[in-house]
Parts: sequence; C-alpha cells; structure tokens
Amino acid sequence: MPEDLIIVGAGGFGREAVDVAEAMRSADGTPTWNVLGVADDRPSEPNLTRLSARGLRYLGTTSDVLAGAMSAYVVGIGSPATRRDLVGLFDRQGWSAAVLVHPAASLGTEVMLGPGTVICAGARLTTNIRLGQHVHVNPNATIGHDTTLGDFVSVNPAASISGDCTVEDGVLIGVQGVVLNRLTVGTDALVGAAACVTSDVAPGTTVVGVPARTIRAGVSA
Ligand SMILES: CC(C)(COP(=O)(O)OP(=O)(O)OC[C@H]1O[C@@H](n2cnc3c(N)ncnc32)[C@H](O)[C@@H]1OP(=O)(O)O)[C@@H](O)C(=O)NCCC(=O)NCCS
Repeated sequence: MPEDLIIVGAGGFGREAVDVAEAMRSADGTPTWNVLGVADDRPSEPNLTRLSARGLRYLGTTSDVLAGAMSAYVVGIGSPATRRDLVGLFDRQGWSAAVLVHPAASLGTEVMLGPGTVICAGARLTTNIRLGQHVHVNPNATIGHDTTLGDFVSVNPAASISGDCTVEDGVLIGVQGVVLNRLTVGTDALVGAAACVTSDVAPGTTVVGVPARTIRAGVSA
C-alpha cells in the first residue's frame, strides 16, 4: 500500500523530487509513495502551470499543509538555508521526513541516509558513506568511499565528492563541482559551479575556479 507523501517546493527540484518518488516501487511492483501534491509558500505562476500540466495538486502554503492531516514529507528546495528553515516547521509539529532514492541511482555497501534525503537518477554513492538529514544528491553526482555529508547538504548535478571527505552541514556543491579526496568543506560553505576544491574550505566561504579560490567569506550557502 503506497504511503501518502507531500513535497514542499513547486520549483525545479521539488518537481524532480516528485519524479524520484513516483519512480520508487516495492519488490512486487507496488508504488512506494502516493504523492498527494506539492506545497509552496510563494509558487510562481509558471510553476503552478507546470504542476497542473503534470497532474499534480497544489496543496497551498506550508501553513495550510501543517494544519491538515499528517503524512510523510520531503522538502524539495535546493537552498540549504531555506530547506533548514522549512524542515524546522515540520519537525516542531512532529512530521516524519521520507527518504527518496531513485531506482536508477546506485548505492554501495554501508551507505547510511538520513531522513528527508533525496537521491536522484544517475547518482552514485560507493561504500561507507554517511549522509545527514535532508541531503539532496542531484542527477549524476558521485560521492566516494568513506565520505560524510552533514545535514542540509546539496550536491548539485554531476558534482563529484571524492573519498574520505567531510562535507559539513548546510554546504552547497555547485553543478560539476569537484572536491578532492581527504578534504573538509566547512559548514554553510558554497563551492561554485565547476570549481575544483584542492584544499579545505573554511566555514561560510564561497569558492570558485580551478583550483578553487575564496571569493566571499561569511555565511553563503
Ligand atoms: C559561486 C556562485 C554562488 C557565485 O554567485 P554570486 O554570488 O551571484 O556571484 P557573481 O555571479 O556576482 O560572481 C562573482 C564573481 O565570481 C565569478 N564566478 C561566479 N561563479 C563562478 C564560477 N562557478 N566559477 C568561476 N567564477 C565564477 C563571476 O564571474 C564574478 O567574477 P568578476 O567579479 O570577475 O566579474 C555561483 O556563480 C555558482 O557557481 N553557483 C552554483 C549554483 C549551481 O550549482 N547552480 C546549478 C543548480 S542545478
């Protein structure tokens, strides 16, 4: 019997998260999730049109949803900070977050996923990897052996985090960003698109380029 699920976020990643949920099946072929619809506090007109074109219900704001019946939920919003704020609202009311893993992703041995995590098609996680809560791993991203990701980390499409890395809470790794092995990316740091991180990244800094250089200090992700 599929379990009811609400996705928060009508934007691109929210609708990608719906695709992940809808692709999931139990061993006998039964859909894992019954997607009730999508909540968003400020949906744009184009995104409302996209929801309806896809046959998805707009369920109202997060307050509307929190006032209704409890179900599983996932926050499908790429910004780590926004995601953290919204999750706080759901946590305070005792809601439980789902874990969504696309069947076309591959997970090796000893991979631990926290609640609220979304793993998209083509993502590859090898062995002995820990992901905290509400982590997003976008299409074709790779995460190497013995690496740890904290809570609210976003790994954007085709980014590559090597082995033995530590990516702390609230980090965003931009599309095609690379983190070389045994490095730490500090809390709330942002690795720019296509950057190659060759040394530890201090908390709250934004780094870009090859090799990655700091362009901004202070909380950024
Ligand atoms: C790094 C990033 C956060 C900077 O964004 P920003 O704060 O708006 O910065 P700006 O666009 O004002 O750029 C500041 C400078 O950095 C440069 N820059 C920005 N992003 C860069 C990148 N990824 N690589 C190299 N240089 C970059 C800009 O050219 C600019 O240089 P200049 O001062 O010489 O003109 C952003 O460009 C980025 O890469 N985000 C990743 C997001 C992502 O993955 N998106 C895909 C979602 S699926």
